Amino acid sequence: MKIFLDTARIDEVKQWVDTGLVDGITTNPSHLSTQGDQPTQIIAQLSQLLPNKPISVQVTEHEPEAVYKQAHAIARLGPSIVVKIPCKREYYSIIGRLVEEGVLVNVTLVFTLEQSLFMCKLGAHYISPFIGRWDDLDVDGSQILYRIRAMIDTYHYNTQLLAASLRHMRHLHAAIAARVDIVTLPVTLLEQATGHLLTDAGDKKFTQDWQKLSGAIFP
Ligand code: G3P
Repeated sequence: MKIFLDTARIDEVKQWVDTGLVDGITTNPSHLSTQGDQPTQIIAQLSQLLPNKPISVQVTEHEPEAVYKQAHAIARLGPSIVVKIPCKREYYSIIGRLVEEGVLVNVTLVFTLEQSLFMCKLGAHYISPFIGRWDDLDVDGSQILYRIRAMIDTYHYNTQLLAASLRHMRHLHAAIAARVDIVTLPVTLLEQATGHLLTDAGDKKFTQDWQKLSGAIFP
């Protein structure tokens, strides 16, 4: 399973890239809007930090032909740029066209099994079901992941299942159990997942016990 960071913050990516855990990045207009008025430069910097790893960048146009043109312009930012397109009916035909033309496409704002099936049929490289936003409506969002996984496997689609909008550890556990291909995590969740109180306490105890040997040379 791949792990992407869900952020446009250069400092966050720098902090995590050396761990060897980060397989890619997903950004969105909300993330980029917090990082100043040079979003193209931010994308270039992210690409330098993670060369050859997929970086999802979302279209911001609305009219379908404008979305299509902007998608191509975004794709030209680099060979591993993936263009994120919202899962709206008016964009279906351009999603198919972009895929045929070799643009890497991540369909975002996916909420249902049917939307997922349609995007697989169009050949999308990634689909991003948003789990936390279902939870916001008091619906257990993680259940959709199991159904999408079964659908992709049943029909042998090549689309990668990218679990997005994960907010806490239960979402991450569900995504792993549902055998998703990728999770995209906010840094706060990756921080939580990579630390454990009992690991720290155990390490401290081993250190204290070892210090009782007072100066033993080992090995
Ligand atoms: O990758 C999508 C993610 O950024 C959305 O997360 O927490 O805004 O629903 P959230």
